[in-house]
Amino acid sequence: MSLRQHLILIGPMGAGKSTIGRLLSEQLATDFVDLDRLIEERAGASIPWIFDIEGEEGFRERETQSLEFVLNTPAQIIATGGGCILCAKNRMLLRGSELVVYLETSIEQQLERTSKDKNRPLLQTGNPEAVLLAMAVLRNPLYQQSARLTVDTNTKQPKLVTHEILNFLDEIQNEKLPS
Ligand code: S3P
Repeated sequence: MSLRQHLILIGPMGAGKSTIGRLLSEQLATDFVDLDRLIEERAGASIPWIFDIEGEEGFRERETQSLEFVLNTPAQIIATGGGCILCAKNRMLLRGSELVVYLETSIEQQLERTSKDKNRPLLQTGNPEAVLLAMAVLRNPLYQQSARLTVDTNTKQPKLVTHEILNFLDEIQNEKLPS
């Protein structure tokens, strides 16, 4: 199966977007881009540095610019950052794509997967659980609205999540074949 349009992964920090993105990239023999890494490459600076110097606002501007840039490249798998759906312009850009997949995750899983990570400035706080909870209240409805497929990643191994996404892709791409 080949990818005819971008397949975009959305969801909160620690949802496994990069892991699933890489597995999909292997299965589909298609390039994978992690938007956070692209932002860092284009800025020549790390995400913590961008937050320190430019604040979250500066980071969000860079995020929108990188999203616009990557959507204009040939079809590939794109993992977005957890806050990418906050900006109305980004949500509008995502609306142009049928293959937006929301990786849904519990706060417990997020805490487990992000606890040792120092590269997520918004979680460098005394109470990451409270931060993640507040984010979930605001953001989960936005992920839901933006996605064509939601996959619960809590109890599934990455391979199974990847398999579900590949099935979805197959269905969508087959719908599009001329009869
Ligand atoms: C953020 C998520 C991060 C990164 C930045 C802000 C967020 O990406 O974009 O630290 O606001 O949720 P990941 O979801 O890949 O960790």
